Amino acid sequence: MRQYAVKGGAPLVGEVEIGGAKNAALGILAAALMADETVEIENVPDLSDIDVMLGALKTLGARVDKVNRHTVRINGSTVHTTSLLDDALNKIRGSYYFVGALLGKYGKAEVILPGGCSIGSRPVDLHMKGFRALGATAEIDHACMVCDSEKLTGSHIFMDGVSVGATINIMLAAVMAEGQTYIENAAKEPHVVDVANFLNSMGASIKGAGTDVIRIKGVERLHATHYSIIPDQIEAGTFMMAAAATKGDVLIKNVIPKHLESITSKLLEIGCEIEEFDDSIRVVSSKPFFHTQVKTAPYPGFPTDMQPQIAVVLGLAEGTSIITETIFENRLKYVDELVRLGANMRAEGNTAIIEGVQRYSGGNVTAPDLRAGAALVVAGLSAEGVTLISDIHYVERGYEDFPEKLRSLGAQIELVETDKDIQRFKLRVS
Ligand code: EPZ
Repeated sequence: MRQYAVKGGAPLVGEVEIGGAKNAALGILAAALMADETVEIENVPDLSDIDVMLGALKTLGARVDKVNRHTVRINGSTVHTTSLLDDALNKIRGSYYFVGALLGKYGKAEVILPGGCSIGSRPVDLHMKGFRALGATAEIDHACMVCDSEKLTGSHIFMDGVSVGATINIMLAAVMAEGQTYIENAAKEPHVVDVANFLNSMGASIKGAGTDVIRIKGVERLHATHYSIIPDQIEAGTFMMAAAATKGDVLIKNVIPKHLESITSKLLEIGCEIEEFDDSIRVVSSKPFFHTQVKTAPYPGFPTDMQPQIAVVLGLAEGTSIITETIFENRLKYVDELVRLGANMRAEGNTAIIEGVQRYSGGNVTAPDLRAGAALVVAGLSAEGVTLISDIHYVERGYEDFPEKLRSLGAQIELVETDKDIQRFKLRVS
């Protein structure tokens, strides 16, 4: 069984470089098939979800060339099918972006329903409603999203709820539709803006991404481009929490500090010191933490994807902290795992009630999903003794070279596969 073995207790110190944004890359890779010319995309994170997306592009017939670990060239002119039924695709979430991209370009799509982390019911009704508003038929049939249209026509779409996935997907479908589309109550996350910027660099006409209303004027074709994906807000935020929880001093490089504001303000509030530079941010944690309250919200609010990680830090704060999860109904599964490490917290509905403890103590835990898995690693780094984290395939979906990057900051963490590996690790760190 593949696990992370972590010996905690040492502050993280040094510099770490953040990679490209996974959730932007998922949208951008699907969007790339809409051009009949070669697009070159840089700063693509090297993650298992990305490999699945690249595999799907190949299945569709697109030419995919990896120039190097983080750069890929895609040419969609050879796409010969609009069906994606491979089971591998229902392991990830971003596969639904192929629906918007194929429908937008070819007028039809049949894609297996997405999977991704089990953090709530995660319906796709808003996506389907948007496609229908553009004039397509859109049904769920045999666990596939099936969409068809003679001609897509721009429309005025009011989103009933703020959804990152639906906003991006409708944007993809509308980019080549005839006329003007307005997406109201759109998601404003940095990755929504990045996908819009990528599409614009291919000749699309999208205005207002990053605000509540996105305006799209349909264009006939999209052309070649050379684009670099933004840094990953959540990877950066996770390292900020790791620096805080271990009482460390870390310079996190290649970030957009503006995207981290909600995270920065919470860390300042609980007593960390933060220095912002143009494209890096330094987190210094030397004092006891104050307790606080955190409520997740769509951007620019506190990200649901950072909620488990800040819970780890607040588990070490003086007094009672409260976390309210408002986006997904099942995102507190980490609470029981942290309790195994000595945390004093409980989940009541969508609220985590946290009484701070002095320190965590090492133990065996299981990652319930991607961000919760990363949070358990952070907890292990701040715990006394050795922590073993299993089901790390979740973590690997979102963090490139996580153990390596943490080791460069002085962490003692290793990927172990056998009992012998674990014994060796324990001997080495004792
Ligand atoms: C994206 O998921 C991210 N995934 C998630 O990151 C992230 O947690 C989430 O946005 C919120 O920021 C990707 O980008 C691939 P939503 P997504 O649509 O698009 C409801 C991670 O750890 N909703 O913004 O699936 C939904 O149930 C992952 O990297 C509908 O009701 O999230 C939720 O309550 C986990 N109907 C809310 O909207 C719909 O049709 C927001 O979900 C769509 C969504």
